[in-house]
Amino acid sequence: MSIVVTGATGQLGRLTVEALLRRGVPAADIVATGRDTTGIKDLADRGVVTRRADFADPESLAAAFAGAEKMVLVSASIPVDERLANHRRAIDAALAAGVSQIAYTSMTQANTAGTTLADSHRATESYLRERGAPAVVLRNSWYLENYTSQLPIVLQHGAFVGAAGDGRVSAATRADYAEAAAVVLTTEGHTGAIYELGGDQAFSLAELAATASAVAGRPITYTNLSADELVELLAAAGVPAELAGVLADSDLGLSRGELFTDSGDLRRLIGRPTTTLADAIAAALN
Ligand SMILES: NC(=O)c1ccc[n+]([C@@H]2O[C@H](COP(=O)([O-])OP(=O)(O)OC[C@H]3O[C@@H](n4cnc5c(N)ncnc54)[C@H](OP(=O)(O)O)[C@@H]3O)[C@@H](O)[C@H]2O)c1
Repeated sequence: MSIVVTGATGQLGRLTVEALLRRGVPAADIVATGRDTTGIKDLADRGVVTRRADFADPESLAAAFAGAEKMVLVSASIPVDERLANHRRAIDAALAAGVSQIAYTSMTQANTAGTTLADSHRATESYLRERGAPAVVLRNSWYLENYTSQLPIVLQHGAFVGAAGDGRVSAATRADYAEAAAVVLTTEGHTGAIYELGGDQAFSLAELAATASAVAGRPITYTNLSADELVELLAAAGVPAELAGVLADSDLGLSRGELFTDSGDLRRLIGRPTTTLADAIAAALN
């Protein structure tokens, strides 16, 4: 069995490769791909096949996906308005290679959510259906790391900021989502499924601040801003305008409950409780 993982040069894809290895998939049966494979030489040294695959370059995809039986298609980290065209090329190449399953990493409630990120995931899910692809949709909520990576600056200022109001997010660690992807790829009965994946305990950003405060032993609050104020603040902090807009738009989605799920799908797939917010914060502070 040969399993291709796209985005393996990135964080979720690499963790997915690690999870496949832990589940006993032989290294030689895993094809780890990205636009620049120099960063995954360590995986090649462990026997994983590494190949260049750029969704903008169909020839690279035909070569990278040759012989693949299954694929984890990690959504690309490129501007949202470029994602669909790139995902379509990846899906076309996977189908041309004859894969029997494509597990696509989408986003919570992608069928109905009103954010620009959800739009691009919904369009990709639609394309998978249109092509009759044997797909499994992994609708991931936010990464806990979106918050834990902010801890150094949050500790400096004693505050998280956002525009999410009282909305609750079912964030989970990348590692838990990666493990779920590996389970789907290595067990039967998932084709056609749509999994709404998220952490067991959803939290509001005020609850995030309270948990961070308790774990760090320092006062940390949550300051809620309007979306415009958040864009301004992020821009002043050097965040590119497109990304600042997407982040503020996503917080509005969060405020509407669009990153929440109580499906239990993640817990069921990985066969254990998901990593808690407090544990993720403690790990990040160590
Ligand atoms: N759920 C969330 O909270 C959340 C947050 C951020 C992003 N995301 C989405 O989830 C994805 C995975 O997250 P992550 O943290 O692992 O992101 P990441 O570390 O930035 O990795 C993104 C991966 O996408 C690959 N990629 C980008 N453009 C590509 C293209 N044109 N063709 C082929 N590969 C391409 C990159 O390859 P190279 O490095 O080789 O260029 C990289 O391996 C992201 O790409 C994004 O769509 C989700």
